[in-house]
Amino acid sequence: MTVKARIERIGEFVDQEVTLEGWLWNKRSSGKIAFLNFRDGTGFIQCVVVKQDVPEELFELAKGLSQESSIRVTGLVRQEERSQIGYEITVTGIEVVSRTEDYPITPKEHGVDFLLDHRHLWIRSPRQRAILKIRAEVIKGMRAFFDENGFTQVDPPVLTPSSAEGTTNMFETEYVNGESAYLSQSGQLYMEAAAMALGRVYSFGPTFRAEKSKTRKHMNEFWMIEPEMAYVGHQENLQIQEALVKYTIKHILDNCKYELKTLERDTAPLERVVAEKFPIITYAEAVKILQEKGHDFPYGEDFGAPHETELTNHFDLPIFVEKWPANIKAFYMQPDPENPDVILGADLLAPEGYGEIVGGSERIHDYELMKQRFEHENFDESYNWYLELRKYGSVPHSGFGIGLERTIAWICGIDHIRETIMIPRTLYRLYP
Ligand code: 4AD
Ligand code: MG
Repeated sequence: MTVKARIERIGEFVDQEVTLEGWLWNKRSSGKIAFLNFRDGTGFIQCVVVKQDVPEELFELAKGLSQESSIRVTGLVRQEERSQIGYEITVTGIEVVSRTEDYPITPKEHGVDFLLDHRHLWIRSPRQRAILKIRAEVIKGMRAFFDENGFTQVDPPVLTPSSAEGTTNMFETEYVNGESAYLSQSGQLYMEAAAMALGRVYSFGPTFRAEKSKTRKHMNEFWMIEPEMAYVGHQENLQIQEALVKYTIKHILDNCKYELKTLERDTAPLERVVAEKFPIITYAEAVKILQEKGHDFPYGEDFGAPHETELTNHFDLPIFVEKWPANIKAFYMQPDPENPDVILGADLLAPEGYGEIVGGSERIHDYELMKQRFEHENFDESYNWYLELRKYGSVPHSGFGIGLERTIAWICGIDHIRETIMIPRTLYRLYP
């Protein structure tokens, strides 16, 4: 039995015979030679079967293999400059583990609905594998940033008694006692409690919005990282967001070269993000820029996709848009003491047309002011604990939520966030 190897570390086995365990992705063959494009989950490698160098049966077996048959391939690892990964296998043996007939996703083009119906198989494709790998590394990078900077991970509940981000898009379910329960739209309110216990905290988990948005940026289930920090004001909140984004992108540039290449991602714009300071503009300045560029955009409305694209193209970097009108933002955002009509919060807009990836703010910490907001929002007693946080040891604090899927779509340079998660939950699609 030869040594088992994996494609991602194949370079450690040059000129040795190894066994790879995986699947046939596709193949080309002539009368004399068969090229097997083989995948093992960690990558793709070309395995070459030369007729005159192997037993007749082996060559015939290789030539007859069908796409997505599972196989063990034994062969010699060779350095090969023309290969994308720098290595190739000269095959000496193949063991068929299971034969596949009529794999539905063939190398020809398929429509996206077909691919989404076969998402459980589509994820085997090189691009989809690369995206899922980058997703895992984005999570790893973000966690490393928080863990290295004194944050503690805390897990807020997913089943909640009330809304955290408005009542229009809640997934309602029945709790065991018959009460209404809702899938979490954001862990933020609980994370504020956690920040008062642990100082700097972050959560990482799924969030749910029952909105009927059919856009490239919206899903009904998405993952969010939500840091919350005691004794941190608006300015420092933005600094931490910028540091997080830079750290994460650098982590991907350093650790996902193969995947970025698979996706044909131009990395120059990402390198710029790591190197340059993110501009900060106020909402009022953003509106002015839009109007100067010919948009008929009134002060006081939320930006749509074309507006976000216009603004980020203007700077060609991620930009913070801060100090939004209070009446179009969430109830918990701290008013600007210099102008209480606007809030001390910002959205971070990603460049290249990706738009909002972060929403965050300083939180109201004054008991009386929060109480007024409660009355204005008509909150019931299920929120009392949240108000109580302003009664016992309240301090200025801030936090934000960064959407994982939107961040990944941007880093990968892909069109639609549905490809950034294994099984997407988009409008009207609960399959597979
Ligand atoms: O701006 P949002 O709604 O903010 C909050 O939920 C705050 N409570 C976060 C906080 O301060 N702790 O959502 C934050 C981010 C957005 O910027 C976006 O990246 C992502 O979550 N997001 C979505 N991603 C995919 N599909 C959707 N439907 C999303 N809604 C928000
Ligand atoms: Mg937002």
